[in-house]
Amino acid sequence: MLFTTYSLFLATASISFAHPTPYKPAIADVDILQYALALEHLEDKFYREGLANFTLQHFMEAGFNETFYDNLKEVSYDETTHVSFLTSALKAANATPVAECTYSFGVTSVASFIATASILEGVGVSAYLGAAASIVNKDYLTAAGSILTIESRHSSYLRAAQKQSSFPQAFDAPLGFNEVYTLAAPFITSCPEGNGKLPVKAFPMLALEASITNVTTNSTIVLDTKGSTLRLPSNSEHVNWYAAWISVTGPTFTPATLTGNNDMFKTTVPSGFHGQSYVLITGKKGCMTDDCVIAGPAIVEVSGANGIM
Ligand SMILES: *[C@@H]1O[C@H](CO)[C@@H](O)[C@H](O)[C@H]1NC(C)=O
Ligand SMILES: *[C@@H]1O[C@H](CO)[C@@H](O)[C@H](O)[C@H]1NC(C)=O
Ligand SMILES: *[C@@H]1O[C@H](CO)[C@@H](O)[C@H](O)[C@H]1NC(C)=O
Ligand SMILES: *[C@@H]1O[C@H](CO)[C@@H](O)[C@H](O)[C@H]1NC(C)=O
Repeated sequence: MLFTTYSLFLATASISFAHPTPYKPAIADVDILQYALALEHLEDKFYREGLANFTLQHFMEAGFNETFYDNLKEVSYDETTHVSFLTSALKAANATPVAECTYSFGVTSVASFIATASILEGVGVSAYLGAAASIVNKDYLTAAGSILTIESRHSSYLRAAQKQSSFPQAFDAPLGFNEVYTLAAPFITSCPEGNGKLPVKAFPMLALEASITNVTTNSTIVLDTKGSTLRLPSNSEHVNWYAAWISVTGPTFTPATLTGNNDMFKTTVPSGFHGQSYVLITGKKGCMTDDCVIAGPAIVEVSGANGIM
């Protein structure tokens, strides 16, 4: 039955899995739970801090009503509940759950609170989706799935509140552990020593150049490494750079050129990417292993909906 569904899926969508998801690290279930808990701590603290920063009055002044404010409190409660759930699961597995870190969210207004919340929820969805294939214990997998679906509802709600499509495309993109950590790391100031080290690492950061606002299919965009130390090969002038756009069927590569003070990459948005999209820079077409990744991922919001609209 599963096989039939799968074949049908392949035939209908006429896609191929020739380039499977980029990272397949051998990571234990307990480490995946710790990784999930680390992300939930970040989200939980984010909402508690934002709701402490801004009152209902602030939200109303920013154009949001009381229903929205109450729903954000519910979102915050969900994240707190995810933290206690994962904490209990880790204790039950005889592990010491990671504790909350200190964070710097750079939120200055209700609008930036909502924008950052929406990005975090989208990353949460892609993080759980990307981790799913590595989870061995079926009960953990179901539990992770039940969190993923809620993060995805949060994401849709926050996107709608910003007049973005709630479901901009037919598939969400799975992100690898290192990719997620790269996106989370800039928010993390420091963590308690007792947390130990998760088997993840951050790539040099990459972000859509700040002045670029309206990105659609075929847009030329500039991705800024923000002065990160890049892992450029010694023969850099002979390297063909590529932007790797992450999707469930494997990345789409678009040529990229080094620009700015050799700290930015110019590329174009391929078709088939809508909503919150993720793009890395790699030094080799088709290669997404740790050795090839130069920087990223960057988050790029691509407007326009998939399909009929
Ligand atoms: C809360 O306010 C502080 C001080 O302005 C700011 O640094 C922080 O990013 C804000 N956090 C949230 C989640 O709103
Ligand atoms: C609050 O705002 C939302 C989104 O604009 C709207 O759908 C809803 O009807 C509003 N609720 C009330 C009670 O005004
Ligand atoms: C964004 O670009 C598209 C296509 O170029 C255009 O139709 C749309 O009006 C633009 N939106 C904004 C908000 O500038
Ligand atoms: C993007 O460019 C390709 C190739 O030039 C073209 O076929 C396609 O219609 C363009 N898509 C959009 C949405 O502009």
